[in-house]
Amino acid sequence: MRIFLWIFLAGIAGFSCNTQPQQRSSGPYDEQIDSILQKMTLYEKVGQMYQCLGRGHARVGDGEKARDLIELVKAGGVGSILVPGDVHDVEEMQRFAVEESRLGIPLFFNYDVIHGFKTIFPMPLALSCSWDTAMVRRAHQIAALEAASAGISYNHGPMADVSRDPRWGRVMEGNGEDPFLSSLMTQAAIRGFQGNSGLDDPQTIMACVKHFIGYGAVEGGRDYNTADFGEETLRNIHLPPFQAAIDEGVASVMTSFNVVESVPTVAHEPLLRAVLRKELGFEGIVISDFGSVGELIKHGYATNASEATNQALTGTVDIEMQSRNYHENIQQLIDSGELDERIIDEAVGRILQKKFELGLFENPYRFATAEQTDSLTLSETHRKMARESAERSMVLLKNNGVLPMGNSVKNIAIIGPFADSKDILGRWSAKGDTSDAISLYTGMKNQFPGAHITKLNVGDFWKESPLKEAEIIKAAKNADLVLLALGEPKEMSAEAASRATLDIPGNQIRIAELVKSTGKPSVLVLFNGRPLTISWYQENVDAILDVWFPGTEGGNAIARVLAGEYNPSSKLTMTFPRHVGQVPLYYNHYSTGRPAASSQYSSKYIDIPNGPLYPFGFGLSYTTFSYSNLKLNRENITLGDRIEASVTVTNIGNVEGEEIVQLYIRDHVGEIVRPVKELKGFRKILLKPGEDQQLSFVIDAKMLQYWSSVSDDYITESGIFSVMVGPNSAEVLSQTFELIHE
Ligand code: BGC
Repeated sequence: MRIFLWIFLAGIAGFSCNTQPQQRSSGPYDEQIDSILQKMTLYEKVGQMYQCLGRGHARVGDGEKARDLIELVKAGGVGSILVPGDVHDVEEMQRFAVEESRLGIPLFFNYDVIHGFKTIFPMPLALSCSWDTAMVRRAHQIAALEAASAGISYNHGPMADVSRDPRWGRVMEGNGEDPFLSSLMTQAAIRGFQGNSGLDDPQTIMACVKHFIGYGAVEGGRDYNTADFGEETLRNIHLPPFQAAIDEGVASVMTSFNVVESVPTVAHEPLLRAVLRKELGFEGIVISDFGSVGELIKHGYATNASEATNQALTGTVDIEMQSRNYHENIQQLIDSGELDERIIDEAVGRILQKKFELGLFENPYRFATAEQTDSLTLSETHRKMARESAERSMVLLKNNGVLPMGNSVKNIAIIGPFADSKDILGRWSAKGDTSDAISLYTGMKNQFPGAHITKLNVGDFWKESPLKEAEIIKAAKNADLVLLALGEPKEMSAEAASRATLDIPGNQIRIAELVKSTGKPSVLVLFNGRPLTISWYQENVDAILDVWFPGTEGGNAIARVLAGEYNPSSKLTMTFPRHVGQVPLYYNHYSTGRPAASSQYSSKYIDIPNGPLYPFGFGLSYTTFSYSNLKLNRENITLGDRIEASVTVTNIGNVEGEEIVQLYIRDHVGEIVRPVKELKGFRKILLKPGEDQQLSFVIDAKMLQYWSSVSDDYITESGIFSVMVGPNSAEVLSQTFELIHE
């Protein structure tokens, strides 16, 4: 209700110069910032609030537009450059800014460093499946180091959008469907990008958490579409990773393209001012997404560019990305008295603050030199880390015993469009070059030098074109084992790549059918940017390894996992549905009044089972773990108490392996209905064959808290709670306790 109230109050106040500037809290650079602000013309101030595209962007290039950009920089008309080009472009542009502009204010150089810069790590959704925050931090630290060496100072990432809809292509950029895990992964990424000690370490880059907010909830999974959810969902699902990012000290927040409560977020004053700035305490830079200020007109929320400008500024959006509405309208808005210039000063103050914190005034080039770029990027150490993180991100979804591949496998056929493809980096792969990537075929040759390996690069992603069937059958018949290298091409995920179907596209299923007809054992090596509907494969192939878009070292990593050099330990962070018609399908749903049952009038489908193909948290290993003895050290607690849950996990298989032990909690009765379970903790442990370990989780009242529209606040209610521990969200041991309010 609070947001509705804010919208109402904002309506009374009017979206005009009645809005007060957002005060910056005092800090060490105040005097310098004030002194610069005093010298600045309005044009120069607005320049700082403009982020334009650089030479590296296809829309600019080297021609006339690049020359215009230089003039703009010299005139002080721009404060940051997105996709600046290479390190030489960065150095040259920065020189124009600091040596030839009137006030010599250094530029930010921005880029989307999403899963690596030159050395490409697995896509973020894959990394999240490792549940390994230390590894995620390290991967982003390497990405930051490489980016900083090329002059990047301000990143457009990480993405913290929680999404329950695999049709949305951007799920590949996030951490899946759970707010708790997503919060931890978002913090790990920020720590990697920004380091631990402020922004002044030149080997780090400034992070920008995006997209504020609710972008993962776009209807039908269609990109840029409307999002429609209530305040419970906002606060219990979408907001936590952003809160976590701010707690971690993220320097910037990017608004999203969608509406929330029918208001586009870039102009959502209650969400931006009251929630983001005031309640969450965010004091850094708010940046619009690409061209989204002008899109307020297409949304039907602003009549013209001037109104759109005023709306975004009123929401404290400090930097306009790509479009020039601020440049073209601020002067007139101030002259007409519709806009208070103090709002501009506050925005520019926040921008300058970050430029000081980054040390740009002292050293505008920070860590950037061509030598650094050459010596650091794609180094042996970075490639090794890329390989290890890929191994630790792949999810084993099925295994009837064909994996790991023993030495007796002498003839291997790799069939499918990914058989020898280097196009395995995925979208948003910054400066990653597919020519540096290791294909599956090359990885297999490296790992199995004694084996006879054939490859057939066949299959179509986009149409059901005819296949050379005899060739496929022959290759399969000659092999001891077939690797089906199938999946989605990278163009099918990330931005503007929503899908209405979730199958492995084109004629690829025909390849699998042909291989099956030979009776040869087969392993699906699945390349994908999102959960896919693969029920046929679950029934018809012998093993499935989901490798996502594994990055530069993908082929080596896959081969090592197939060989058992690395025992898979990842678990899904997004549910795999059986059919696209089940979407949205997620583990932390509410119970209905008629939970699925055999009776006719219950909440279920009549044509397919209700549950997912693979639930959240699911993933196999080459060993087996058993769970026993879940115990709570007390039966009830009061608000200030803690309760300890202990469980024994045993490796009952034959090889050493890592297990992600998951803790879920259910609040049985609430003043609003509560999810059937919510992830509240996890531990990743390594056990030798036969070894067991007793683990304990401490549960306190904070973990039981949620936001309720009835109380209009975050509350912890008395009552019965279930504590569940298990290997995934569907298979858990359970105990209950009671929370008593004294
Ligand atoms: C995306 C952002 C990205 C920006 C700049 C936009 O279209 O939504 O996530 O940071 O482009 O590349």
